[in-house]
Amino acid sequence: TKTKAEPKSSGVTNGGARIVVDGDDEVLSPTDLSEMLAEGTKDSHDKAENCQFVKDFLRGRIKRELFKRGTAALYFVYAAMEEEIEKNEDHPHIAPIYFPAELHRREALARDLEYFYGEDWESQISLSAGTKPYVDRIHEVGQRDPVLLVAHSYTRYMGDLSGGQILKKVAQRALKLPSTGEGLNFYQFEGIHSQKGFKQLYRSRMNELELDAETKERIVGESNRAFSFNMMVFTELEEIGKTIKEEVQDAGLGHSHAEIMEGM
Ligand code: HEM
Repeated sequence: TKTKAEPKSSGVTNGGARIVVDGDDEVLSPTDLSEMLAEGTKDSHDKAENCQFVKDFLRGRIKRELFKRGTAALYFVYAAMEEEIEKNEDHPHIAPIYFPAELHRREALARDLEYFYGEDWESQISLSAGTKPYVDRIHEVGQRDPVLLVAHSYTRYMGDLSGGQILKKVAQRALKLPSTGEGLNFYQFEGIHSQKGFKQLYRSRMNELELDAETKERIVGESNRAFSFNMMVFTELEEIGKTIKEEVQDAGLGHSHAEIMEGM
């Protein structure tokens, strides 16, 4: 579960809004977009973490075929998201959170797919029924309401920066992938030295966006939608998994869920 120590009030006031200082001395306000997103997607996050596919994955119960399909699904999602972000890179609500060298995953996913499927990977993958609504929504938002791309970026990139390292280790061990990182480029953010530091920068950039209260609420709503789309992808993979015969051994980290979370 995504938990944060209860913020301590600093007693400072800001136009009526209480300013709180968290454990890392970040100054937070409940009307900051980063705080609204963290608070407003808590339930969605709990649901995502507790769906069967994700629980199996964390236990190391993941079939190679399913991991390949999941990687393909992510490829379509990131290709759509990064295409729309790039089209809108000069938009005042996108430019401050535009970090292609640090965040963008399309190239990394393409390399992973080449590792799993071979040189002709592109002809071997297709957009699944469970992934299509997610991809369609990203294009719709990019064309009609680009400020909502903030929600899609937040939901994926901040999640990847939070849980990525643990998921990488689980997959490496369960699928016996080489320690060189082949097949796992998605989880490796070469342009980011401190995940924590980058998350702080990203949050402050979101908070500096010139947005009215209603737009902030719409971004939180869109992030919850993005969580639902991710769940649809997981549910579809779970269903496909039931039809695939493949050995899975319990190759999880051998720790409780709570312990795994401690390290994140
Ligand atoms: C943050 C764990 C799945 C999106 C986090 C954090 C942890 C975590 C430990 C850090 C919380 C913090 O910094 O206070 C996990 C685990 C998952 C999982 C164990 C299951 C494998 C997901 C999924 C998504 C997601 C499926 C969405 C696709 C996010 C986001 C954040 C986050 C957006 C940033 C929250 C914020 O600071 O605003 N997650 N997560 N997570 N996760 Fe997950």
